[in-house]
Amino acid sequence: RFEQSLRPQYLSQYIGQQKVKHNLEIFIEAAKMREESLDHVLLYGPPGLGKTTLAAVIANEMQVGVKMTSGPAIERPGDLAAIVSSLEPGDVLFIDEIHRLNRSIEEVLYPAMEDFCLDIVVGKGPTARSVRLDLPPFTLIGATTRAGALSAPLRDRFGVLARLDYYDTEALTEIVVRSSKLFEADIDPNAAVEIARRSRGTPRIANRLLKRVRDYAMVRGTGSITMDMADQALEMLQVDPLGLDHIDHKLITGMISRFRGGPVGLDTIAASIGEESTTIEDVYEPYLLQIGFIQRTPRGRTVTAAAYEHFKLEMPE
Ligand code: ADE
Repeated sequence: RFEQSLRPQYLSQYIGQQKVKHNLEIFIEAAKMREESLDHVLLYGPPGLGKTTLAAVIANEMQVGVKMTSGPAIERPGDLAAIVSSLEPGDVLFIDEIHRLNRSIEEVLYPAMEDFCLDIVVGKGPTARSVRLDLPPFTLIGATTRAGALSAPLRDRFGVLARLDYYDTEALTEIVVRSSKLFEADIDPNAAVEIARRSRGTPRIANRLLKRVRDYAMVRGTGSITMDMADQALEMLQVDPLGLDHIDHKLITGMISRFRGGPVGLDTIAASIGEESTTIEDVYEPYLLQIGFIQRTPRGRTVTAAAYEHFKLEMPE
């Protein structure tokens, strides 16, 4: 896919996340010097910040292959056995949404991570027996939006823990400019900053908005991505000046109109606006917390004065 080509292939092309990048550079170089596989890596943080991209970059830097799967896709121990036994020495096994692995799979994963072997039960009932399979050394890269949802024994088996943070406007602008070049699209630097500002600190959103603005500029303009084109397209997409979309709006205005701005429990908010609690918790809430529009209190979530001001609503006494 074309999308694929937007992804950086080397750490030197990966924009932002300086701390994580510098740490990884050291660990990758050391593993290569020792001719060993890289220690297992846990990448965590909100969605869209480049966890999958970073896993592919790590494999590329290590000059090894990568197999990609996800927690929910591994239903039985045999599913895991099939994938790990297909690995070449040193390969990366990427498990997205690793917090959604079921516990019986986790148990099989522990010895695989620690001793590079699999204990698989074959057969049923009295003739059931356990066979041990040796595996090549490999690097497990797990990705999750919620490190807290991982069991402690699983978390403890990762040698490298890397937390990805929201990108600042400068880094996102760099990503938008880089992507525009890859698209061979002409972009006004101010338009790039505007798209960056309205991308909620998230490269996936920045690249998506860039594509839609580019569509708009092609159809309604000359194809050149000017500030005007960006403004009009973003308004059409209902992305407000802070990058909040209609779900963010529904969430905040719903908390205000139905619960007097809280405190209100997550499940109650979710039910009232017809969204999944986990979607709100993993996707929407982290950014609203980050920009200080929502606070978490022991009695539930509350809307802050800053949010009332943004939505031009009167805060109750
Ligand atoms: N595209 C998406 N995320 C990126 C990043 N962090 N650096 C460069 N390009 C990207």
